[in-house]
Amino acid sequence: MKEKKLKIGVLVSGSGSNLQSIIDGIEAGRLDAEISVTISSKPDAYALVRCKKHGIPAVVIRHQDFPTREAFDRQMIDVLRSHAVELVVMAGFMRVLTPVFLNAFPMKIMNIHPALLPAFPGTHVQQQAIDHGVRFSGCTVHFADEGVDTGPVIIQAVVPVLAGDTADTLAARILREEHRIYPQAIQLYAEGRLALSGRKVIIKECPVMPESAFHNPPLSGF
Ligand code: GRF
Repeated sequence: MKEKKLKIGVLVSGSGSNLQSIIDGIEAGRLDAEISVTISSKPDAYALVRCKKHGIPAVVIRHQDFPTREAFDRQMIDVLRSHAVELVVMAGFMRVLTPVFLNAFPMKIMNIHPALLPAFPGTHVQQQAIDHGVRFSGCTVHFADEGVDTGPVIIQAVVPVLAGDTADTLAARILREEHRIYPQAIQLYAEGRLALSGRKVIIKECPVMPESAFHNPPLSGF
């Protein structure tokens, strides 16, 4: 008998390349999930084209059509519940969720952010990392909470910031890793391996790599 797949709902606003990485993970059999529905806050999001191509139900919900942020969130909750969604995955979704939404899916909402949180929350973070002069940046998958990019961290990937980087070249380097860590985080959730202890995420049976370190610039003999 086939095991039950985790039903996920994906929230998007734009290109949907992270959505695509989840679709690819599912289609390759690496991710034990199914996308029950995708909600786009923008009618012209390319993510909708990806849904059509892969036969994924998609719904457009525009915040402009609702009198309050809570009313917009309630509409999304209704759609997600009607598709029996167990985990909400924000993938380039450009709206901040209200407590109404967070309380409807407690610790069942993931977000991806293109920086090593808690450094550089918010927007335009690749340019901020370059302007600050950090040698590394990366991406973070975390559970959503009431703050902006403040929730418990699940998985992070690190990339170097290189001389001559622009926001675009750094964003592309980070995005490649986003496409790897987001499906991985969802798979950990699907396997029931994520638990919360305070604000820490505990990963059950997690391999460790105590000796690994990254240097930028590389060390010369030290
Ligand atoms: C990603 O960099 C994600 O981290 C950020 O918005 C971008 C969305 O890209 N939240 P896409 O729509 O998944 O291509």
